[in-house]
Amino acid sequence: MTNLREEPAGDALTSWRTYRLAAIPGDGVGPDVLAAGRSVLEATAAAAGFGLEWTELVVGGAGIDAYGVAVRPEDVAACRAADAVYLGAVGGPKWDDPSSSVRPEQALFALRGGLGLFANLRPVTIHRSLVAASPLRPELLEGVDLLIIRELTGGLYFGARTEASGAAGSRAASDTLPYSDGEIERVVRLAFELARGRRSNVTSVDKANVLATSRLWRRVAIEVGAGFPDVQLNHQLVDSCAMQLVKWPAGFDVLVTENLFGDILSDEASVLAGSLGMLPSASVGSRRTAHGLHGLYEPIHGSAPDIAGRDLANPIGTILSGAMLLRWSLGQANAAAAIEAAVSQAIDDGFRTADLWPADAVTTAGLTRVGTAAMTEAIVDRIAIRRPEVVA
Ligand code: IPM
Ligand code: MG
Repeated sequence: MTNLREEPAGDALTSWRTYRLAAIPGDGVGPDVLAAGRSVLEATAAAAGFGLEWTELVVGGAGIDAYGVAVRPEDVAACRAADAVYLGAVGGPKWDDPSSSVRPEQALFALRGGLGLFANLRPVTIHRSLVAASPLRPELLEGVDLLIIRELTGGLYFGARTEASGAAGSRAASDTLPYSDGEIERVVRLAFELARGRRSNVTSVDKANVLATSRLWRRVAIEVGAGFPDVQLNHQLVDSCAMQLVKWPAGFDVLVTENLFGDILSDEASVLAGSLGMLPSASVGSRRTAHGLHGLYEPIHGSAPDIAGRDLANPIGTILSGAMLLRWSLGQANAAAAIEAAVSQAIDDGFRTADLWPADAVTTAGLTRVGTAAMTEAIVDRIAIRRPEVVA
């Protein structure tokens, strides 16, 4: 009897599937990196034997220009109807007026909140050949492999706020940080579940010595942790965590924390990987489609308007987000691994975008400086799908 070893359904050689993806290029370098990511996904799909059908949406600053709002309800609906959403970046100086009631970033919050994407996964891995690109000493980067899980639909980002009003000298504004135990529970539970497939260690980050929500966070983390006796739970205050992240980053496995803390710590952690341009992210909730978790995938960097449209942006964060999309939302684990391997190979073969280019001339031997398009091409050229093994 001949059997395909158990693999996600889409990997079966005999079934041709077409997945529906929503594409949001956005602003600044968003269109540059998303075009790169899409061409890698297309090449991978062709090699692996499945199809992708795209719906492109005009969202962010581009949405403000086109429709007067950052995102329309029909855009959120189109994202909900798709199997997954692939996003470049939104925002830019053109829409930065603090007194404006419409801002590109509102699109992110409407999508995150509207699609119920309460967990933002930001893996930080270090490529051996890029150790020199990080300002940290090489020995500190040895063994670094961490996953930051940022709560994405609560806390300061979604709490009630009042904008400043009144005359200078008597102005006041406020933001609030609310969390319910249910909101904490679901994201912390995901952290424990994912830790089981890694090194079984969860660090819950809070500010329990000051904030009431953090004390609730810590209590809920302990309650959830009781159901995972095989996973070690540590609590760390966010200020101390910020220090530990650069002092001994290899000490972390899974880090789970509230929205704003996660935003800040993940940018800090990106320094370990050599460039903000390297890091992918997945935002997921609990809704499943026929193929996997519904989710939104984007690089963690912003829209970098100064280098937009100049073939300068590093597309790797977006390309690796595409790999996460395949794995988490489409159940295409082999195809995801093929992208990750191709990225590693392109780096090993010396391809470097400007952000990864060594500052000193001495270490550039064997390296090729490339733009967005050439880096993408180098990665596409290295895609090789490992077929599911046929076992007798
Ligand atoms: C991120 C970004 C956004 C955030 C900005 C652009 C609003 O920094 O995704 O990390 O703060 O969530
Ligand atoms: Mg951020």
